[in-house]
Formats: sequence, structure tokens, C-alpha cells
Amino acid sequence: MLVERWRRIGFIGAGSMAEAMVAGLLGAGVTFAPSIVVTNRSRQERLDAMALRWGVRTTRSKAEVCASADVLVLATKPADVPAALAQLQGLVTPRHLVVSVAAGIPCALVEEALGEGIPVIRAMPNTSCHVKESATAVARGRWAVDEHEQVARTIFGAVGAVVTVPEEWLDAVTGLSGSGPAYVYLLMEALTEAGVEVGLSPEVSRLLTRQTVLGAARMVLETGEDPALLRRKVTSPNGTTMAALKVLEEMGFVSALREAVRRATARSREMGEELAPERARRLLESAGT
Ligand SMILES: NC(=O)c1ccc[n+]([C@@H]2O[C@H](COP(=O)([O-])OP(=O)(O)OC[C@H]3O[C@@H](n4cnc5c(N)ncnc54)[C@H](OP(=O)(O)O)[C@@H]3O)[C@@H](O)[C@H]2O)c1
Repeated sequence: MLVERWRRIGFIGAGSMAEAMVAGLLGAGVTFAPSIVVTNRSRQERLDAMALRWGVRTTRSKAEVCASADVLVLATKPADVPAALAQLQGLVTPRHLVVSVAAGIPCALVEEALGEGIPVIRAMPNTSCHVKESATAVARGRWAVDEHEQVARTIFGAVGAVVTVPEEWLDAVTGLSGSGPAYVYLLMEALTEAGVEVGLSPEVSRLLTRQTVLGAARMVLETGEDPALLRRKVTSPNGTTMAALKVLEEMGFVSALREAVRRATARSREMGEELAPERARRLLESAGT
């Protein structure tokens, strides 16, 4: 449970990320449904559905969200952030904490839009927050202090594991854990197909693949062992696993994964640069006019 000072949480954006966070916060008992207020751009039916499902309050007014929340979660698409920030100007004060989950939006942009002294935490969760297994990295903005970081860690702790990193690491975080679920999904697709190719039915192959991935992840987590050690333990000389690993090595499995993470990191950086401060400022100005 968050301390009382930070229990009132407002969501700017009522999409899938906001809903996953609401579900996690309520499920983990971090706050109470009446302490959560949600707003979006225009889809009233979406607000009604969230109110019905979770018992949270909803409003069309950003002024009302800011007046009745201590933590403001910025959960619009990155392209909609300048407009949302322009609408929040003058409503957010240094007593708030702004937590932005918008990919690629620097803390400095939010700080500049909302004014001096506003504490901002930028977070990079991944889609597994929908099942409360996100790998989330949080980074502090210029005005955020230990207390703000702790509040953000408690919030994201409700939907998975959290680490604190310097903001400049967030492109690498995006390349590894942000895009990471897709790498594992691809691995699972390939394993299921391979199982069918060697004679299993699709249902059996799918079940065995799912449980193998889940079991391997739990082995790493619950034993605390290095995956390299666990791999060596299951690889007997001249056995089946060794034959398979040899093929993976010959076909460049490890270097392909390294290159994939490197490219995703570079793409995240590029996308951030497309929103370079100058361009962001112009967007913000045009959104405000
Ligand atoms: N989905 C994930 O698992 C995931 C993972 C990591 C990071 N993220 C980040 O989370 C953010 C949200 O993603 P999402 O998948 O939840 O998006 P989404 O489902 O499209 O939801 C976006 C929400 O923002 C609202 N919105 C847009 N402009 C607004 C404004 N000016 N004021 C108030 N609300 C506004 C939309 O309202 P209307 O529907 O009324 O237009 C909608 O409720 C993105 O920035 C993304 O980078 C998401």
C-alpha cells in the first residue's frame, strides 16, 4: 500500500496500458478504486467501461484529475503527449508526481512543458504488465527525489519487477525488455513449428513449448542460478541437447539475438531523436495554440 500522501492516482489516457496498471494497482492493494481517477481524449464509452469494471472514478476534465490526484500517470501514445502536456499546463504543481510511460518521451520534455520543480519519473514497462509480469525500468527526471522514485517503484511493482536506471539507458532497456517479449514469442512460434515438423500434433507441440519456456524462466528465477550454468547442467556430452546447441551456434543464434537487441536500441534512439527537443518544443507550441 502506498503511503496516504501518494494514494490518489490520476491517469491521463485510458488505453490498454492504463487499464493494465489499474488492474495491477488494485490487485496488489497499492491503492483503493475510489482513489483512482481516469481521463482520456474523447471515448466516453471507454471511461464508462473502466468505471464499471474497476470501480474507478472518471472525468472529462484534466483540471479535476489534477485536483484529485497526487500521482499523474501520463499514458497516451507518444505522438499525443505534446497535446496532453499542453492541456495540463498550469494544472500540475510541484506537489504532484508525474509518471510518464510514453516510449521515447524524455523527462526534459515533460519538465519543460509543465514548469520548473515538477517531479517526473519516466518508465519503460513492457506488455507483460497485462499479466503482472512486466520488466519495468524507471528513471528519475531533474526534480524527482528518492521519495518519488519509491512511489514509482511501488506502482510498477504492482505489475511486475522494477529496476531504476539512468535515463540514458532507456533506449537499451527498450531494445532488451521493451521489445523482448516479441523475441520470446518468435522463439515459441519457431519451437512449436519445429515440434510439428518432427511429428507432434500442433496442440501437443504448443503445450510443450509453453510449459518449456515457463519452466526454464522459473528455473532461472527460483534457483537464482546463472542461465549459462543451468544450460551446462542439462547438456551431457554427445547427448541430444549438445547436438541441438551445436546447430544453434553454427547458425548464429546468439549473434542474431545480440544484433536484434542492438538494432532495437538504435531504433529507439533514432525515434527519440525524431522527437529532439527543438521539434518537441514546436509540437508543444502548436498543440497549445
Ligand atoms: N501497451 C503496452 O503494453 C505498453 C508498454 C510500454 C509502454 N507503453 C506506452 O504506454 C502509452 C499508452 O499506450 P497504450 O497501448 O495504452 O495506448 P492506447 O491504448 O492507444 O491508449 C491511449 C490513451 O490515450 C488517450 N489520449 C490521447 N490523447 C489524449 C489527451 N490529449 N488527453 C487525455 N488522454 C488522451 C486516448 O484517449 P481516446 O481513446 O479517447 O483517444 C487513450 O485512452 C504509450 O505511450 C506507450 O508507449 C505501452
